[in-house]
Amino acid sequence: MNWQFPVTRTTHPKPRPEDETKLGFARYFTDHMFVIDYDEGQGWHDGRVVPHEPILIEPASCVLHYAQMMFEGMKAYRTPTGEIQLFRPEENAKRMNRTNERMCIPEVPEGLLIAGVRAVIEQDIDWMPSAPGTAMYIRPFIFGDEVSFSVLPAKHYRFMIILSPTGSYYAANDGGLSTTRIYVQDEYIRAARGGTGFAKCGGNYGGGMRASKDAMKYNCKDVLWLDAAENKYVEEIGTSNAFFRIADEVITAPLDSGTILPGITRNSVIQLLKKWGVKVTERKLSIDEIIEASKNGTLQEIFASGTAAVISPIGCLCVEGTDVPVADGKVGPVAQKLYDTLYGMQTGTVKDDMGWVYPLGLKA
Ligand code: COI
Repeated sequence: MNWQFPVTRTTHPKPRPEDETKLGFARYFTDHMFVIDYDEGQGWHDGRVVPHEPILIEPASCVLHYAQMMFEGMKAYRTPTGEIQLFRPEENAKRMNRTNERMCIPEVPEGLLIAGVRAVIEQDIDWMPSAPGTAMYIRPFIFGDEVSFSVLPAKHYRFMIILSPTGSYYAANDGGLSTTRIYVQDEYIRAARGGTGFAKCGGNYGGGMRASKDAMKYNCKDVLWLDAAENKYVEEIGTSNAFFRIADEVITAPLDSGTILPGITRNSVIQLLKKWGVKVTERKLSIDEIIEASKNGTLQEIFASGTAAVISPIGCLCVEGTDVPVADGKVGPVAQKLYDTLYGMQTGTVKDDMGWVYPLGLKA
């Protein structure tokens, strides 16, 4: 389907961020946004690009009470010649519909996500950042806004896409990598078998904030979750998937429990490592095995992967208040190579021999 959307341009363009090297994560939002409505019986209708501004929402809307919503995370990148490109956006579209199915949100038809992204980027193309480590973060989200207190799927939804010129999620990484500290959470749980762990829905994150607050007490940037059944095996980090390099094997949690977010960066990391001949295994890994590897010197690297986090090396885990160092605490070679390769492909400075880059046919 060839989607076309009417555009209402803002009459009050915002000032651009002054220093692209200090964007942080999602602190600035562009001038426009994409909106499309869904009504039962009518499907998705009236897609449009409008000024980015506060929206009206009836206080009795079901999302405000029962959290029937989902979101995605994507980025657009500017190449040295000014072309704008996405990274594996069809994978976001597929994941979006897997989340929608779990959350009883109507399916988004093929092509609509990318068409909406393209339409809003076209209007805000002069907001595309180009400083090292930056990108345009894209946040698509859908929420049920039927006025109803019945605990049942809504009959009306809004799907919106907003844009934020952004640096890395972990601010210290802007323009170059550095390590962070991560808190291993052993009190609260994020996701259990049969729950919504694999889905990108707000409730997964809202429920994790208690743990993130605790992590801050230990000067940690985020939380590494353990499995709900045994409180023993590492699952994922608050914002990202987690990889552990022990004795030259790179290990990440398997997806079969349904408790792990199937990250597109996670999948890209696995494919690249396989291509490079690095041993990479999706298996259960206990926190005890990691502590032991730190003690006996075989824990070589830990890093997070995600759209927002990109590749974020971890220099130290904090387990029950005790520091578990990761090698010498510095950025490891595998994390660095992955970051250079992925961000290089995304920004067009490294050849994409995986077919992952998706040019939008727009030029900044
Ligand atoms: C992303 O990486 O795009 C995410 O959605 C993570 C977010 C919770 C910061």
